[in-house]
Amino acid sequence: MGSFAAISVLVLGLVLNAAVLCNGGKTSRFVRKLEKTEDMPLDTDVFRVPHGYNAPQQVHITQGDHEGKGVIVSWVTPDEPGSNTVVYWKEDTKDKKKAEGKVYTYKTETPWLIVLMHSPWYNSYNYHYMEGESMRVMFEKWFVKYKVDVVFAGHVHAYERSERVSNIAYNISNGICVPVKDQSAPVYITIGDGGNLEGLATNMTEPQPAYSAYREASFGHAMFSIKNRTHAYYSWHRNQDGYAVEADSMWFFNRFWHPIDESPESV
Ligand SMILES: *[C@@H]1O[C@H](CO)[C@@H](O)[C@H](O)[C@H]1NC(C)=O
Ligand SMILES: *[C@@H]1O[C@H](CO)[C@@H](O)[C@H](O)[C@H]1NC(C)=O
Ligand SMILES: *[C@@H]1O[C@H](CO)[C@@H](O)[C@H](O)[C@H]1NC(C)=O
Repeated sequence: MGSFAAISVLVLGLVLNAAVLCNGGKTSRFVRKLEKTEDMPLDTDVFRVPHGYNAPQQVHITQGDHEGKGVIVSWVTPDEPGSNTVVYWKEDTKDKKKAEGKVYTYKTETPWLIVLMHSPWYNSYNYHYMEGESMRVMFEKWFVKYKVDVVFAGHVHAYERSERVSNIAYNISNGICVPVKDQSAPVYITIGDGGNLEGLATNMTEPQPAYSAYREASFGHAMFSIKNRTHAYYSWHRNQDGYAVEADSMWFFNRFWHPIDESPESV
């Protein structure tokens, strides 16, 4: 009799359980198409330039200023630069205050312009060779125009540092397609040497191209130590050596504030 009671409790439990599980929510049968989704058309309303005089196209709000109080509100108005007055107020008050914005260019407020990207543009290893080309062709002239100081890339599991070079003169008919020394160009650093499962990229193109200042197939790490607006000290350490040994190093001179050739031949 005792075991019969136990069995009926068990059966009741199973029945209740089944009732709960059967009453789930919706199962959507939607499966996304394999093809790439269509891009949002460029003339949709979200991309439209706001109208009105000096209408901000981008607004950046940073909490905290250099002294640790207040907020920094900055905005970009490439089409119609004009009044720099910002009107602000507390929620639910009619008391409006005004602040006068100052105009800064990028390099005056933040002297060091550093770009991080995945695929290197200047890479002389036989791994991912020239994979960054289509991106380089599109954007390299901007890096030169805006005087990027240094570009860090990964992707290739090894280390390489370039000279200051650019390759932006080519125009399909002039044949000028060799990187040339350019003091407005960044130094390109491949720092994909943090360590990985497949091992190092060791196979290099030979001979070493003129744009490549130093390359080594070691795992390692680097430090970019900004001293002030003109000077930064850069050092690369291979991990086998311990922290004190610098396998590669150079002083960086800021391209906007101190655009002097810092390569060993000229210093
Ligand atoms: C290409 O560049 C050369 C100078 O390097 C210039 O003389 C020529 O007009 C340019 N051609 C085009 C199509 O822009
Ligand atoms: C290095 O890469 C080149 C080009 O891909 C290839 O021909 C060569 O066999 C490679 N060498 C080694 C040792 O893997
Ligand atoms: C910037 O730092 C460098 C390196 O430490 C130093 O030589 C230079 O005098 C500094 N410049 C200024 C303006 O402090």
